[in-house]
Amino acid sequence: MAGLFITLEGGDGSGKSTQSALLAEWLVGEGRTVVHSREPGGTELGVELREIILHRRGYITPRAEALLYAADRAQNIATRVRPAIDRGEIVIQDRYLDSSVAYQGAGRVLGGAEVRELSLWATDGLLPDLTVLLDLDVASGRARLDADDKVFDRLEAEKVDFHSRVRDAYLELAASEPSRFLVIDGALPVGEIARAIMERVARLL
Ligand code: TMP
Repeated sequence: MAGLFITLEGGDGSGKSTQSALLAEWLVGEGRTVVHSREPGGTELGVELREIILHRRGYITPRAEALLYAADRAQNIATRVRPAIDRGEIVIQDRYLDSSVAYQGAGRVLGGAEVRELSLWATDGLLPDLTVLLDLDVASGRARLDADDKVFDRLEAEKVDFHSRVRDAYLELAASEPSRFLVIDGALPVGEIARAIMERVARLL
């Protein structure tokens, strides 16, 4: 069986982890081997990088931030994701290069094209077979994060206009690659979103 690489994208609080868990559960029930991954933090090195990127005190310059995400990505793709795809497994991953294009490219205003090139260099050109974008307005995403009652990380703590730029960039990315993206309204009930994702993935199996 051919391997697949499926990524979930969206703003903070858009429901990616809930949906990737439901998708993984369904695929395992279909008899597939699933690797669940995330960026940043999908590898041992990545866990250390995640801690630095999200929680280190003090200023990190936007280019350094972009390079830290790219380093995490390079390690994750080379050591976990590509080997799993080559074994014919399905990799479901929370966040990938579109996160960098949206957050560093648009949020930090580094420029989407350069940030995308950096990620493609880091991963030797790997693009997902399918990217699910859970689109949610910024206020609703914030409300969900507030309800979680956790301390905001460096990115979550950014202001509303940062997160609005991130959302707009995601929608532009989806519009420019319609065959790779499935855009779903993140405000829909969990079960409805899960069904829409499964229907699309079923066509790829
Ligand atoms: P997470 O909490 O969804 O795991 O993601 C951690 C934060 O990192 C989230 O606010 C989005 C941000 N991020 C980027 O800014 N660029 C990236 O390339 C990735 C993967 C995540």
